[in-house]
Amino acid sequence: MLKTHCATAGRLLEIGSGTGQHAVYMAERLPHVEWQTSDLPEHHVGIQQWLDDAALPNVFSPIALDVTERWAPKNPFGTVFTANSLHIMSWLAVEDFFEQLPDWLAPQGKLIAYGPFNYNGEFTSASNAQFQQWLQARDPLSGIRDFEAVNELALAADCVLLDDIEMPANNRCLVWQRQQ
Ligand SMILES: C[S@@+](CC[C@H](N)C(=O)[O-])C[C@H]1O[C@@H](n2cnc3c(N)ncnc32)[C@H](O)[C@@H]1O
Repeated sequence: MLKTHCATAGRLLEIGSGTGQHAVYMAERLPHVEWQTSDLPEHHVGIQQWLDDAALPNVFSPIALDVTERWAPKNPFGTVFTANSLHIMSWLAVEDFFEQLPDWLAPQGKLIAYGPFNYNGEFTSASNAQFQQWLQARDPLSGIRDFEAVNELALAADCVLLDDIEMPANNRCLVWQRQQ
């Protein structure tokens, strides 16, 4: 999926890199992509360890990026990627994410968001319904997002849905393209 949507050389910003393991896995398979990791500062030591062990030339040390705080790069990225983060952050933070998106993403650039989503107000599986209970017990502000609500935020950021791909374990990979 990333191979299809990141087929040409370019710079990618990952939001919420977590451990950094996925960044290393994917950057290794996409050597033409310059992969910029980011997350809240408490994750940086762990991310850096994965990067140091992998020693890949195309994946870069994390920048401190909290989507609730304003951050605008000098040069916007061709791709913004995030996995398993929109259901972890609060809905207000998801709104902040999409409000800032035009500062991060170059015209015609793509936003790729991986994770569980609901459609028409319904879970796509019983295991996602259980996952929602687990999420909300841990943090009541977290939760599986409605595709339609996220898509509205994307449209307000001038991004149009290109692809909605079914992934393993009831996850989706949503791809939007910025229009201008
Ligand atoms: C479940 S982890 C996913 C990590 C990794 N992307 C993965 O798929 O394994 C959720 C990530 O979202 C990040 N996150 C939560 N709130 C955030 C915020 N306000 N700004 C940026 N990242 C945030 C967390 O720090 C964490 O790394």
